[in-house]
Parts: sequence; C-alpha cells; structure tokens
Amino acid sequence: MRSMVRETKLHVEDLIYPIFVVEGENKRNPVQSMPGVEQLSLDLLKEEINEIVSLGINSIILFGVPESKDEVGSEAYHECGIVQRATSQIKEQFPDLVVIADTCLCQYTSHGHCGVIEDGYVDNDASLSLLVKTAISQAKAGADIIAPSNMMDGFVIEIRKGLDEAGFKEVPIMSYAVKYASAFYGPFRDAAHSSPQFGDRKTYQMDPANRKEALREADSDIEEGADFLIIKPALSYLDIIRDVKNRSLLPIVAYNVSGEYSMIKAASQKGWINEQQVVLEMLTSMKRAGVDLIITYFAKDAARWLKETK
Ligand code: PBG
Repeated sequence: MRSMVRETKLHVEDLIYPIFVVEGENKRNPVQSMPGVEQLSLDLLKEEINEIVSLGINSIILFGVPESKDEVGSEAYHECGIVQRATSQIKEQFPDLVVIADTCLCQYTSHGHCGVIEDGYVDNDASLSLLVKTAISQAKAGADIIAPSNMMDGFVIEIRKGLDEAGFKEVPIMSYAVKYASAFYGPFRDAAHSSPQFGDRKTYQMDPANRKEALREADSDIEEGADFLIIKPALSYLDIIRDVKNRSLLPIVAYNVSGEYSMIKAASQKGWINEQQVVLEMLTSMKRAGVDLIITYFAKDAARWLKETK
C-alpha cells in the first residue's frame, strides 16, 4: 500500500551518467578520490557503453581529459579533440544513446580556468567566442545536447546563435544555469585535471549563500533560449531546485556532483552507512525537490538497484 501512495518515483530514464575520456589505448585510469570512477580511452568505450545501455540508461555526459593544454584551451574546440572523437565514435556505435557534451575550457587551459585570462582575470566576453567554437565542434561531431558549464554571462544566447548559424538549429542547450562556487567539486578536479592554477572560480561561479541570484541566473538563461536548466551541486541546494522548478516549465536537471559521490563512497567503504539505501534516498530527494533528470556517478549502481527492487 505504501508504494500505491508514493508521490515520487525514481526511474532509470531519469539518470545521466558522466564519462571521462582520455587519450591513449587500453587506459582505464582509476580516479583516486572517486572509487568506481575511471578515465577511459576510446577503445574501451564500446564495452563500457554496452553495459550502460543494457542497464537501461538513456544518456551520458562526456568530459574530456586532453593530452596537452594551452592558454586558450585549443583542444576543447579541435576537430579531433578527445570529446569530438569520443562523440562521433559513440554515436556511430550507439545511435540511440543521447550524448551530452560538457562545454567548458577548464580541462583544456594550462591555467585551469573556465575562460581566457586577461590581466589576471577571466575575461567574460573573450571567453564566449571560444565556447561557441567548442559547442559547434561538438555538435559537428554528433553531440545531441550541448551543456555549457563555464558560467560566463551570455553563454546561452551566444551558443544558440552560433549553433543556429552553423546549421545546428535542432541541437538543444542544457545550461548549467545555476552553478555555485562549491567545495563539492574537489574530487572532479582530480578526475578531470581541471584545478585552477591560481585564484578560484568565485568571479564567475555563485556564492552558496545566495538564493535570489539563482533565480536571476535561471531567468537570464531561459530568456537566452536554454532548453534545460541544471542546478549544481544538488544535495546542499534542494531549496534552490524547488525555487527554479516553481519558476520554470523547462526540464530541470540536478548535478549530483563528485564530492556528494565521494562522501557516500568513503562512508560506505568504512561500513558506516548502507550505500544502496543512502543513494536511492538521496536521488529520490532530488526528484522530490523538483528535478526531472539527474546527472550522477551513481547512475549505473542506481540502475542496477532499481531493477533489483522492482
Ligand atoms: C567545470 C565543471 C566542473 C564540474 C563539471 N564541469 C567543476 C568545476 O567547476 O570545477 C564538476 C562536477 C563534479 O564535481 O562532479 N566545467
């Protein structure tokens, strides 16, 4: 009877699985701070994605770990960049899988910032044109959705214009609309080798203390033409998820970030919590708060558990 009156249900279709792709062959590099997460070389992707698809997961988001970095993040928008090659390979092998490309420069810049540096600061407008180039090259490679994460003002409208002009009118934008300057990203920077080499991201990511600002950020992205809105991180920001959900009819996405993953992994490895129950409770809380989709490193585990508990 309890299940008959359950208000919120988690489905495998809600889950988006992040994958880190790396140059080289036969590479399966474990990420120290994220047990169970690996950087994969392209030749191992097919096997990995077979598993993902067989679990019923519909969608993945790709992060690239390039071999070389420079001041302007050239590898982010190179035609043969790691994400571009991964995307075209995956779309050829798994045409029905929805491939989302994370669009940012931080993994590709030598200074580790999400934009270009002028006089010691990230220059918003100069960064936009590189982001647009990145988005177009990802769409060319076959990405189904473009997900810009660098938090520059105006990135949605600029990318929308760029995609339209390049003939990708039908490619939607999943905007990281509300992204906080969060310590919960720590383990990801280890996975993606994207720590800023000086300063921090506080000139472009949001103050965790702000709530109204989240709505302003969401509003501007909606106006600029976003098709999905991401809120990130998720767990400490469930109130923000609900606020944005109440404000917009667009699909809302939670990014259950690396630190949220690693905390649970660490506690469960110590035998302090029941991992399965905690994860399903956490993901359900995000849906209850109002999200339609969840980007999570737990996607494969959760898909398995959902099957078992059906
Ligand atoms: C940056 C980006 C970050 C994440 C996704 N894209 C981190 C950052 O701003 O440093 C974090 C994801 C996670 O912690 O799981 N473009």
